[in-house]
Amino acid sequence: YGAARVLVASNRGPVSYTVSEDGSLDAKRGGGGLVSGLSAIGSDADALWVCSALSDGDREAVRRGVGADGVRMLDIPADVHADAYNGIANSVLWFVHHMLYQTPLEPVFDAEFRRQWASYEAYNRAFAEALAEEAAQGAAVVVQDYHLTLVPGMLRELRPDLRIGHFSHTPWAPPEYFRMLPDDVAGQVLRGMLGADRLGFLTERWAEAFTACAERFAGGLGGTRVGVHGLGADADFLRARSHEPDVEERMAALRQEIGEGRRTIVRVDRTELSKNIVRGLLAYRRLLETHAEWRERVVHVAFAYPSRQDLAVYRDYTAEVQRVADEINAEYGTPGWTPVVLHVKDDFARSLAAYRLADVALVNPIRDGMNLVAKEVPVVSDAGCALVLSREAGAHEELGEDAITVNPYDVTGTATALHEALSMRPEERAERSKRLAAAATALPPAQWFVDQLDALRG
Ligand code: G6P
Repeated sequence: YGAARVLVASNRGPVSYTVSEDGSLDAKRGGGGLVSGLSAIGSDADALWVCSALSDGDREAVRRGVGADGVRMLDIPADVHADAYNGIANSVLWFVHHMLYQTPLEPVFDAEFRRQWASYEAYNRAFAEALAEEAAQGAAVVVQDYHLTLVPGMLRELRPDLRIGHFSHTPWAPPEYFRMLPDDVAGQVLRGMLGADRLGFLTERWAEAFTACAERFAGGLGGTRVGVHGLGADADFLRARSHEPDVEERMAALRQEIGEGRRTIVRVDRTELSKNIVRGLLAYRRLLETHAEWRERVVHVAFAYPSRQDLAVYRDYTAEVQRVADEINAEYGTPGWTPVVLHVKDDFARSLAAYRLADVALVNPIRDGMNLVAKEVPVVSDAGCALVLSREAGAHEELGEDAITVNPYDVTGTATALHEALSMRPEERAERSKRLAAAATALPPAQWFVDQLDALRG
């Protein structure tokens, strides 16, 4: 047995490496909800984070035996990883749970899918074996997300002594949609998950959907417990980080781009199909069309950071976002006013700068596990912001009362919501924003993780 008493497993780890020109390796801490939530384990000497080597730099780090303390990267063969990550995790499981298929043509579960599925099994097995090797007697293991659904079951067979948890950062599909998967594959996913002692979800809705799938297709939960942990924003970190000099610099630059005296509608996303960026832009166009009084007086600051660009549909979507933004600027822009300020280069400091300046935050996903942006903007915004929020975001369960709720498919409804948000009296906006921030920070990341461990051991 190994020495680790607390283990985390995820595809994307807390650190990534690049090979610099002189051949040395530069380490960069990763961002995002999963990583910031889990960094609470970093201080624990008995903790180990097992993740995939994702970049060439990561693979080089594994080869050279370089690594951050408490992190073990698995150098899974690149083709196996690509099939598991791009082919199965991001093109099938992500699509199922976010209900993204255009069903007349997709999905097609053919021989290629079967080949990719075999890679997904091999990739999950590599994680299960590494965890089995590293875990001390009776250790707690928390497996993360849809990339690793088979791990709990595999690990249970290798190491019946362990406490095994799994946490989903995505929605879970309802049974009528989930059963689109081939029966044997659906069964494997559910049995893999049910190998855990305890399963965690971000909201009641996703936990109920999983339970319904288990009851319909796997004979019930068996001995597996299901719990909900609504990951919140990290107020202390965000407030401190958003007042650093680099953020102030970017605020000055953004103010220049926005122009004097204008309102700001902010959105920040990965360029992700489920984030519904194009309909958000169409709603903004509709606002300019029907409420001419906002022309010249509002700017839509949209940050859409490239994501999963190995997949053609993500590349096409990225191009479509750009095209629609350009179209709106061509149609409504004037020499002194650019209606849409679109940035695609990932820059955390600039995201925080936009949060601070936001009058309105637009968060309109088709479906989303939680959506941390909805929780972060009210915490950071200087004057308090109005939140236009999709009812299909997990965050809506906690923030719905003080947000302006939208149906993400309803573009004219979203345009009306934007108008309402822009028109909100400053005092009301500030009050709502305060309540949003309080709800958003109810369960800070460190506590979120500790709660899961306690529940797993209890
Ligand atoms: C979602 C998933 C995470 C994933 C993140 C970024 O939040 O739940 O598991 O890490 O997206 O996606 P990527 O494919 O870049 O890791």
